[in-house]
Amino acid sequence: MERVNKICEHPVWKRHMDQLEELEQKRIFCKHGVEHLLDVARIAYIENLENQMGIKKELIYAAALLHDIGRGLQYTKGIPHEKAGADLAAEILGDCGFDDEEQQKILDAISCHRDIQSRDHRELAGVLYRADKRSRMCGFCKASAECNWSEEKKNHQLYV
Ligand SMILES: [Fe+2]
Ligand SMILES: [Fe+2]
Repeated sequence: MERVNKICEHPVWKRHMDQLEELEQKRIFCKHGVEHLLDVARIAYIENLENQMGIKKELIYAAALLHDIGRGLQYTKGIPHEKAGADLAAEILGDCGFDDEEQQKILDAISCHRDIQSRDHRELAGVLYRADKRSRMCGFCKASAECNWSEEKKNHQLYV
């Protein structure tokens, strides 16, 4: 997991994560800090193991750690975060030793992590999409009534 740790040490990742923490300090809805990113990575990896999907652990963790990295640019510049995030991830992944094919898979997964069409995919994009949604504990959230997620999207029960 050396390459994954390099992502967390990368100056671009660190800078954007710090800015995001600052921007979300007073946010009452779901935040996008490292806890969320690791929840997504672990849930995605569990699905991968349970269903013997054979996706490399490093690809899952890399996609999860980077999927919301563009969130700050969405708040400050109005750029959809899947797009801003894919651009930032492209800067980071090469420096961390991911080859072209791996980068493409990760960037595709980041780019469509909000696209409902990813929901049923068996590839990295699908695993990331499902883990991202399953990671949110709407049934325990005090801001649930004001959240803009539709009732069908919210997790009212634990996903196990
Ligand atoms: Fe996101
Ligand atoms: Fe997310």
